[in-house]
Amino acid sequence: MSGQKKLFVKTYGCQMNVYDSARIRDVMAPLGYVAASTPADADLVVLNTCHIREKAAEKVFSDLGRLRAHRRAKEEAGGRMLVAVAGCVAQAEGEALRARAPIVDIVLGPQVYHRLPEMVARALRSHGEAVFDTEFPVEPKFDHLPPPASEGPSAFLAIQEGCDRFCTYCVVPYTRGAEYARPAAAVLAEARQLVETGAREITLLGQNVNAWAGEAPDGGVWGFGRLLRELAEIPGLARLRYTTSHPRSVTPDLIAAHREVSALVPFLHLPVQSGADRILAAMNRGHTAAEYLRTVDALKAARPDMMLSSDFIVGFPGETEAEFQETLAVIRAAGFIQAFSFKYSPRPGTPAAAMPGQVAEAEKVDRLARLQAELAGIQENFNRACVGRTMPVLFDRPGRHAGQLIGRTPYMQALHARMPQEAFGTVRAVRVVSVGPNSLGGEAVDIGRKDAAE
Ligand code: SAH
Ligand code: SF4
Ligand code: F3S
Repeated sequence: MSGQKKLFVKTYGCQMNVYDSARIRDVMAPLGYVAASTPADADLVVLNTCHIREKAAEKVFSDLGRLRAHRRAKEEAGGRMLVAVAGCVAQAEGEALRARAPIVDIVLGPQVYHRLPEMVARALRSHGEAVFDTEFPVEPKFDHLPPPASEGPSAFLAIQEGCDRFCTYCVVPYTRGAEYARPAAAVLAEARQLVETGAREITLLGQNVNAWAGEAPDGGVWGFGRLLRELAEIPGLARLRYTTSHPRSVTPDLIAAHREVSALVPFLHLPVQSGADRILAAMNRGHTAAEYLRTVDALKAARPDMMLSSDFIVGFPGETEAEFQETLAVIRAAGFIQAFSFKYSPRPGTPAAAMPGQVAEAEKVDRLARLQAELAGIQENFNRACVGRTMPVLFDRPGRHAGQLIGRTPYMQALHARMPQEAFGTVRAVRVVSVGPNSLGGEAVDIGRKDAAE
């Protein structure tokens, strides 16, 4: 027996990478790899990387630089440390990565995580040559990965991967490849397994998640709305979320699902990126600002408590001040209660990087600050308006004080309340009583006593 080995995985980027990192740990566990709390004493370090903006990609190289000292210390003590780069930087850079960072032993793209054990074995046998695999194999990795257990009351489930939309600023279609939808039976089986191992909430993941259309158990095809309806039938599953959606794939059937399926939270992340039609066209988003707002209205008509969150890019090539103002107008009209907003970052190989009219950095900084101030105001107002409301809260973390638990409202607000220990991992009705800078305060609503009094 070779005994226990230690694995350290660092995750950058989106929730898909969080899900993938858990799969990487799962696939290495049968080989005796257990989690290390720091990279210093790890036998295998995996950086699961993100290529979306320049800053995210550059961070990987500074982290690799820092790993050198750990590896040297390990070797001086007679040990060995393998360094693997996974994820979207690995896919984008391929063998070029090794030239910039000779410390790297293994480079593996997002579609081949099931091959990591074999790559580690090869790297251990080799004397310093790197092992590469950035293929998009025909057989999907999901068929070869062990079925995951839930790590808590809230779990991620990847149902779709890749993107065929080719927004002109974005690297994802190149790093994750073409759209692939997992068969419904595989999704349902994984969801049941997650619920059996403690999940009460499942967030379905995909780069273009609502474009999911997959093989049905009877050999036909299901759309995304049907999949949601089937998932909602799983006993013990209280909540369903999904991310990230594209406005063009919000179908009438999906809107109807939001009306009919109570497990679906009344909160949707639906990126708009810009509010100016000329910029939306240059981005190749496939919709206008008015079309986007009509979709928002239809969702709110189906589910009156529906709130939206979004992603924004400021300073896309050619964006004028007037066009930026149009984005602010869409923010006010849709009333986004949360958002991720970014300065446009030119990415190698994408069409937008070569477009004329690149916006000066100072202008991007200024627009981002103004956009974020607008969003923060809406978020604050919404949080304040929640005081007095009763909301279902999924308690998934211990609080800072004894007798306290922390959970999430349907709108992803953190909420802390005095709660009995057995409320952990359950959804409870809570009245919001206060608003802090980072969380809401709540009080359990004793539904039992109210019923008894009636
Ligand atoms: N599939 C998702 C988003 C993936 S990337 C979608 O279509 O919404 C997450 C966010 O990063 C995008 O929504 C966009 O706002 C931002 N982003 C992508 N490429 C970018 C770039 N080159 N510069 C700045 N932000 C970018
Ligand atoms: Fe990127 Fe656009 Fe695809 Fe989203 S829809 S992943 S932004 S190309
Ligand atoms: Fe980043 Fe790749 Fe996700 S580029 S955002 S890790 S799909």
